[in-house]
Amino acid sequence: MAEAATGGTGLRFEMDGEIATITLDRPEKRNAQTFGTWSALARIGDELPEHVRVVVIRGEGPSFSSGIDLGMFTQDPGLAQGPGPAEGPGTDSFAAAAAHGDADLQRLIAEAQRGFLWLRRPEIVSIAAVRGHAIGAGFQLALACDLRIVADDVMFCMKEPALGLVPDLTGTKPLVDIVGVPRAIEMCLTARVVGAAEALRLGLAEMAVPANELGQAVQDLTAALLAVDRAAATATKRLLQGAPHRTLEAQAAAERTEQATRIRALFASSK
Ligand code: CAA
Repeated sequence: MAEAATGGTGLRFEMDGEIATITLDRPEKRNAQTFGTWSALARIGDELPEHVRVVVIRGEGPSFSSGIDLGMFTQDPGLAQGPGPAEGPGTDSFAAAAAHGDADLQRLIAEAQRGFLWLRRPEIVSIAAVRGHAIGAGFQLALACDLRIVADDVMFCMKEPALGLVPDLTGTKPLVDIVGVPRAIEMCLTARVVGAAEALRLGLAEMAVPANELGQAVQDLTAALLAVDRAAATATKRLLQGAPHRTLEAQAAAERTEQATRIRALFASSK
C-alpha cells in the first residue's frame, strides 16, 4: 500500500524488505483512531505484499494510542472517517451510526474489525511496540498482534465499559486467552491501568524495556524471527494457534500432518 493511500487516516505505512511498519501517526491527538484508521488498516492487510514476514505496529510520540477519537461522541473527529458499508451508516459519529438499522451497524463494526483480524495470519508475525498509553482501541490493537514488546512506561487500559461501550475491536478473545475470564472482567469493568511489570507478569507483554530501547528491542526480535525458515515458521504458528481449540490427540495429529509436509519439502528431492 502506497504512503499516499494512507493520507488522512492517521497511519503511516513503510516497508523494508520482509518487514512492514505501520505507524499510528497522529501524535498531537495521542494517536486517536477513527473508522478511517480501521479502514486503512484493513486495506493494508488486503494489499500486504506476500514477501512481508513481520509487521510492526508502533505509535508516533509518547503514546501508542489513546483509543477511539472522542470526537466520535460529539460528531467532531477532525479526520477522514473512511467509507461506511455500501449504503450503510455514516461514520462521522456514534449518533450518525446509531440512526441506522442493526444490520448496517453490524456491517460497520465488522469492517472496523477487519482492520485487526488479518494481523493473526500464520504467514506473518505481528508485533506491537507499545509505549505510553494504550487505551481502548489502542489496547485492542496491541492485543490484535501476536506479540507485544512494551516500554516501561506502558499504560494499558480497557476503557470502553466506562464509556458505556464494549470492547468490540476483536480484543476480548485475546485478552481472555492471555489473562483468563476473572482477570479480564476485573480489568475491563474497572478500566484500571495495567503497567509494564503487571503486563509482563500476566503475559500481556513478551518483553518490557526502557522507552529509549524499544526500537532496538523490536529490531532484535524481528531479526531473530527472520532468521527462521519461513515455511517452518508459518506451519508452527498455525499449529500453535490451533492448539487451544484441539484435544491432545487432535493436536498430535495436526503435528503429524504439518511435519509430513515439512519432511517432504526438506528431504524429498535429496534422495
Ligand atoms: N480522542 C481525541 N483527542 C484526543 C484523544 C482521543 N481519544 N486523546 C487525547 N486527545 C487529544 C487531547 O484532547 C489533546 O488535544 P488538544 O491539545 O487539542 O487539547 C491532545 O490529544 C493531547 O492530550 P492530553 O493533553 O490529554 O495528553 P496527556 O498526555 O495529558 O493525556 C491521555 C493522554 C491519558 C491519553 C488523555 O488524553 C486521555 O485520557 N484521552 C482520552 C482516552 C479515552 O478515553 N479514549 C477512549 C478509549 S475507549 C475506545 O477506544 C472505544 C472503542 O474502541 C469502542
